[in-house]
Amino acid sequence: MARIAVIGPGAVGSVFAALVSEQKDHDLVVCARSVPPDKIVVESESGTRVCIPDAILADPAEVGEPVDWVFLAIKAHDTAGAARWLAGLCDERTTVVVLQNGIGHQARVAPHAPTSVVLPAIVWCPSEVVGDGRVSLRGPVRVGVPDSPAGSDLIDLLDPTEARVELVADFTTHAWRKICANVVAGLMVLTERRAEVFSLAGMRALAHQLACESASVGKAEGARLDVRAVADAIIAELVSMPSDMGTSMLFDRLAGRPTEWREIHGVVQELGKSHGISTPALDVIVPLLQATSGRQEQG
Ligand SMILES: NC(=O)c1ccc[n+]([C@@H]2O[C@H](COP(=O)([O-])OP(=O)(O)OC[C@H]3O[C@@H](n4cnc5c(N)ncnc54)[C@H](OP(=O)(O)O)[C@@H]3O)[C@@H](O)[C@H]2O)c1
Repeated sequence: MARIAVIGPGAVGSVFAALVSEQKDHDLVVCARSVPPDKIVVESESGTRVCIPDAILADPAEVGEPVDWVFLAIKAHDTAGAARWLAGLCDERTTVVVLQNGIGHQARVAPHAPTSVVLPAIVWCPSEVVGDGRVSLRGPVRVGVPDSPAGSDLIDLLDPTEARVELVADFTTHAWRKICANVVAGLMVLTERRAEVFSLAGMRALAHQLACESASVGKAEGARLDVRAVADAIIAELVSMPSDMGTSMLFDRLAGRPTEWREIHGVVQELGKSHGISTPALDVIVPLLQATSGRQEQG
């Protein structure tokens, strides 16, 4: 039996809450920011999961004991806002699985859980909130984590579920491969269109350019990427997606919420600059993403 907390019952958090709650012997607490629903419903091709956690909290003051596992499933820019949850839920027995796109998971989260193990996770979980407490999951759930004792423990925890956990020897390369795709997804944000937008040849060309720029920066950061092969593969993935598939960043844009542009596009652009790598397409889309992000961006 493990005590598990999920912080952020949005798309990804709801899916992980539903998966772990299928193992009845775990104790599950869900920590929300807005008024939480009393149950979580995840709809997927394999059926509908209804998750009724042992506790659903909206105030960090209500946290009792620290837990064994925290699944942190909030947007990267909201991490500091979860500090009080992490303070109450974490101690030296806790592993915090950071289910976020981007890089720098450890640096972002460790200050808020200084005695815990922080496990960065690159997650594939094509999911969308479609109603109050209702999430649509449109593909397999996969998680890549560094090859480590905590990663092995995560495999044991999630093994009975549909989620597949991969221990990754070269996490830098793994994370950068995903970031390249996340950068390209910025085009869905700017056009406010789903994957069908990549039926346009011009959008595919721009996506390819962005993927090449990002992979070049990743290479300079130590990722072992074949720049052209990565970009080709990303375009192939985009055109093979269902045309109505979106991304988390697009859903934020459509809802008028802040997007993760700074933690994805901004970081890649900055690192590119620091390596002297030219990123002309990124240099155009970064200010556009900043200007269209839901919070009043200044400076
Ligand atoms: N969705 C996908 O398909 C997908 C796939 C792979 C990776 N990812 C990555 O996974 C991460 C999570 O994305 P998501 O799509 O699940 O986001 P999401 O649907 O927006 O869910 C985030 C949830 O966190 C909650 N939250 C924010 N601050 C909080 C706080 N201080 N305390 C408690 N809850 C808080 C939000 O509450 P409110 O309702 O109040 O906003 C929301 O319910 C992101 O880094 C994303 O890039 C997403």
